[in-house]
Amino acid sequence: MMENKIVVETKDLTKIYGDGDGVHALDGVNLIIRAGEFVAVMGPSGSGKSTLLNILGALDRPTNGICMVNGQDLQKVKDLDRFRSKTVGFVFQLHNLIPTLTSVENVQVPLQEENMSDAARRKRAEELLGLVGLGDRMNFMPAQLSGGQRQRVAIARALANQPAIILADEPTGNLDSKSTDEIMDLLRKLNREHGTTFIVVTHNPAVARAADRIVTVRDGKILRDEKIDNVYLEDLREFKETALGHAILDDEVPAELNGLGVDKIAEQVREVLRKV
Ligand SMILES: Nc1ncnc2c1ncn2[C@@H]1O[C@H](COP(=O)(O)OP(=O)(O)OP(=O)(O)O)[C@@H](O)[C@H]1O
Ligand SMILES: [Mg+2]
Repeated sequence: MMENKIVVETKDLTKIYGDGDGVHALDGVNLIIRAGEFVAVMGPSGSGKSTLLNILGALDRPTNGICMVNGQDLQKVKDLDRFRSKTVGFVFQLHNLIPTLTSVENVQVPLQEENMSDAARRKRAEELLGLVGLGDRMNFMPAQLSGGQRQRVAIARALANQPAIILADEPTGNLDSKSTDEIMDLLRKLNREHGTTFIVVTHNPAVARAADRIVTVRDGKILRDEKIDNVYLEDLREFKETALGHAILDDEVPAELNGLGVDKIAEQVREVLRKV
């Protein structure tokens, strides 16, 4: 199988805040991410996760080391604004929507630099909102949306210029578990259907488990870099849909399980384990 092209490559990436004995926020990070990967970045508070994401998105500059994103050496990119609007899309914990603009207007903001008619911009923004399931919230103001819906608008906005990479810093940090699941399902769907590469910083193990790969950062260094077995995950997803899955994972007792003896339940468990 041909390997996908490399979209992120860092060599000995270092970031020191302050001078001399300042904070080593990143300390020699070597990371390769290929097109279409869905990577979770985990690690304790202060370990350097946001610093890494900000450097990949050219919101911050490294002190040392090389950072290549989508074939461009960030140190040599002349027009960083253009890089930021064309190559990467950002989603933050706080959605950062403009409170005085409607959903559809917020999504049009990054399109202002494009050479498009107003009507084409609006059409594209409407399509994107449809894609994230907000076709019926086009003209709502951010204050009239739920937290999960605002985050969907932010995702639609991040997708506006069809970036190669979406960088998301705690995108579900402010959401309850149901909205978190919905946002993660949406991100995975966008990843599968459009091949967009995702790098998602999270503290939430349930979010990280939805990724293909978990990079763990500690004290500015990569402590672990693990691929998640997708086959297992697919099985787990299927399992979640079964009555037994609901009972175990959601602590709910679906009607189908009521009255089943231990023997029948054990049979179902064996069935699942055989697959895994
Ligand atoms: N602008 C700055 N000036 C000085 N130090 C900074 C600055 N930004 C971050 N740091 C320091 O760099 C280290 C890494 O910070 P970073 O924000 O990357 O952590 P993080 O892993 O994202 O943490 P959290 O999970 O709390 O968001 C921290 O020790 C922090 O104090
Ligand atoms: Mg952070």
